[in-house]
Order: sequence, then structure tokens, then C-alpha cells
Amino acid sequence: MANKPTKMATLTIEGVADPIELPILSGSLGPDVIDVSKLTSQGYFTYDPGFVSTAACDSEITYIDGDQGILLHRGYPIGELAEKSDYLELCYLLLNGELPNASDKKEFVETIKNHTMVHEQLRHFFQGFRRDAHPMSIMCGVTGALSAFYHDSLDIDDAEHRKVTTHRLIAKMPTLAAMTYKHTKGHPFVYPRNDLSYAENFLHMMFATPCEEYKVSPTIAKAMDRIFLLHADHEQNASTSTVRLAGSTGANPFACIAAGIAALWGPAHGGANEAVLNMLDEIGTVDNIDKYIKKAKDKDDPFRIMGFGHRVYKNYDPRATVMQQTCREVLAELGVENNPTLQMAQRLEKIALEDEYFVSKRLYPNVDFYSGIILKAIGIPPEMFTVIFATGRTPGWIAHWNEMISAPYKIGRPRQLYKGYAQRDFVELAKR
Ligand code: SDX
Repeated sequence: MANKPTKMATLTIEGVADPIELPILSGSLGPDVIDVSKLTSQGYFTYDPGFVSTAACDSEITYIDGDQGILLHRGYPIGELAEKSDYLELCYLLLNGELPNASDKKEFVETIKNHTMVHEQLRHFFQGFRRDAHPMSIMCGVTGALSAFYHDSLDIDDAEHRKVTTHRLIAKMPTLAAMTYKHTKGHPFVYPRNDLSYAENFLHMMFATPCEEYKVSPTIAKAMDRIFLLHADHEQNASTSTVRLAGSTGANPFACIAAGIAALWGPAHGGANEAVLNMLDEIGTVDNIDKYIKKAKDKDDPFRIMGFGHRVYKNYDPRATVMQQTCREVLAELGVENNPTLQMAQRLEKIALEDEYFVSKRLYPNVDFYSGIILKAIGIPPEMFTVIFATGRTPGWIAHWNEMISAPYKIGRPRQLYKGYAQRDFVELAKR
């Protein structure tokens, strides 16, 4: 869809006679953008470290209004999707732009089921990792390795290749995630089962053993499905932007998703859910909360309240609202509603939300603040939390990759404000 300017911006530069006219473009929702692409020909770059004020692409997939705390996937609010939809239905919506009818949904679910096994040789890749390797290091490796097994579908310009790759990635990520967990436990891998739903199958592969079947509780399975759903996509976040940048070079989609997994790992991004549990363990008791709030406010102290704050949300992350409710349901089902970690998290949230520092900087709980408490209650260890995030985020990553690749695109290549040496002559070793 070509962008037609809705109005013009005039850039006047001191000492430059002619002002520069820049087109202003409007989307269907959200702020207008100033198209600065021609500035290079005028001898200028824009400067925006961290891309705080930069729209890097067009997209129709997800819309976030950070001030209002609104998150829409193809126009549908996350709260409604969490209440009325399910994860695979949201995958279909993100990929195709519309909710599936009954027959489309049945076909999509069946297709995904039939791709859940991984090539038997892929099992050998796990043997190369120490048992105490961080699960995200394994996921980076084995996801990238998938591209070694599908030479039949790596032509990114072929829509059918892109489609089968999309299905393979959504289907195989839970299998790889569970295999990663089993490897770190020293347990044998558990094959997927086609008689189970997506979330039930994941829990089965995680917790069943050859000695005993894992009885999946419907509440836990529903909570797992909702956790995947709440992580499915989030506009141009750091890992999705990484997938787009890798994809813009023509790299194969498995390699692009592996790049996204690597970017997600950082504690400022998807690694925050694991960091929240480590932070709550470090705080230890409710009595220590005030001390840690003080540390979080101290500019000279690197400590931050993990799971709080967001580049876009300057209001409550709508996913955190649903996650907190799910947390209460799961803990009640498990009979641990008085879970001390949850009580500490709720106390910490209450104190922070009443503190001038957090109020003035508009810092609220984000998606990572409660997710870890649910996952730990289900029996998933903190080091696996970001693997769960990566599994849930796969349809978002692949939807953005596909949106970019299936239309004209350029290789991503930012410029810089250079502050290094001007050209100078080489100095021979003897003269240094
Ligand atoms: C995710 O982008 C996405 O959409 C990401 C995500 C997704 O679904 O893909 O939503 C998932 O990554 C959620 C965020 C998970 N990260 C954390 O919970 C880590 C803790 N949060 C922070 O590190 C921080 O809030 C970020 C990284 C999330 C956002 O950083 P920004 O936008 O660069 O904002 P900032 O760091 O400049 O913070 C603004 C101010 C700063 O103070 P000043 O320099 O202005 O004085 O708020 C302070 C920060 O020091 N601040 C915090 C804080 N977060 C920000 N102070 C204490 N505790 C915090 N958590």
C-alpha cells in the first residue's frame, strides 16, 4: 500500500537558504510520521539512538497505544482475545489478518499438529550442550539448526515455502522448548502427541516421563495457552525488529527467528520474567521492599524493579492485567493462593504504584511482572521462562517477517553520528 502524504513538514536549517519539505504520512491509528528518507540526499541523517521516535516500517499486524494501555492484534483488543480466543486462533489471526471460521480453524490446528515432531537427527544437537547450559543458549542453537533440515522450503520468495516454514516454526518451538528442558534435567525426550491441544501437548512433553503419564489439568492447560497468547506479538519490539533486520538481508526464516531469540534473551526484554523471580528471591521478604524501592530510585544503583516500566506503555500493560488474573486462578487451582512470592509481588506493585518516582516516570507492571509466578507454580524453572516467551512470540516474529518479505523491502542499514578520528597517516611500529 503506497504511502500518500497527508500534509508536509518544513525543515528550516540555520544558514541554509532553502527549507527542506518532508512528507507527513498518516496510518489508520496512532501518530503521523515524518518521512525523512530523502534527508540523506540533502546531506543529513536523523539521529535517534534506541529508535525512541522512529517508525522503522509499515505494519498492519499489531497496534499499541502506550498512553491508554491499549493492545490490538489485527484490531481485536488483547483482553477480548484472552477471554474468548485461544493461542492457535490468535496465530492464525496474526498470520492471515482475520479470525478463522470453523473449517479454517480445524484445518490450521490439524496442520500445526502434523508438524510438531522434529527431525530425529536434531536430537544429537542437544548432546553438545552441557546439562547446566542456559536453556536460551540451547534454543538459539537448535532453532538456527532447523535451517539445516528444510532445504525443500528455504526460497523466501516462494509463498508456499514461507507458509510451510511458518507452520513448522509454530509447531516445533514447543517441542524444542520441551526438549531443551528435558536435556537440562537429564530426562529422555518426550514425543508430541496429536490427541492433545497445543498447550496440553507442551505440558505433556515437559513433564511426562517414560515411567509416568503427566495428567494435564484443564486449568493449567488453559493458563499455559493464555500465557502463549499474551506473548504472541507486540509490534516492533527489540526482538521483532531484530527478526525484521535479519530478514531484510534475505537470511532464511529459521536463522531470523534464532536472531530474535538471541535478542529476546536480554533482561531488559524477554529475560525480564526470569529476572523478576530472581529479584523477588533477592528481596526475600515484604519487610525488605522499601529498601529495594529506594535502590531502584537511586541513579547510582543499577538495581531496577524488573517487570516494571516499558518503552511504549506509560500506563498499565493490558497483558499484565490478564496475567495477574490468570496468576490468581492458577494459584487457587493449585491451592497455593497464599503463595508468598505472589504476595510479595502484589505488595511491591502496590508500593511502587503509590510512589512518586514511579508515578512521575509512568512506570507500571509489564507483561513480565506476573508471568514468572504462574510458570513457577506450574513447575517450570525460572531459567526456562524466556524460552516460554520465545515460544509464545514465534507467531508474531514470523508474521512480521512474512509481512516484510511478501512486499517490496530494502535491506536495513542505519547510519551513525561519527565522532572518531579524521583520516590520518599510518605510523610504523618503530615510531610508535
Ligand atoms: C518486554 O518493547 C516491547 O514491546 C517489549 C515487550 C514485548 O512484549 O516485546 O513488552 C516485552 O521487554 C517488557 C519489558 C521487560 N523489561 C523489564 O521489565 C526490565 C525493567 N524495565 C526497564 O529496564 C525499562 O523500563 C525498559 C527497558 C523496559 C524500558 O526502558 P526505556 O524505555 O529505555 O526507558 P528508560 O530505561 O529510559 O526509563 C525511563 C526512566 C529512567 O529514569 P531517568 O533516566 O529518566 O531518570 O525510568 C527509569 C529509568 O531509570 N526506569 C526504572 C525502571 N524502568 C525505567 N527505574 C526503576 N525500575 C524500573 N524497572
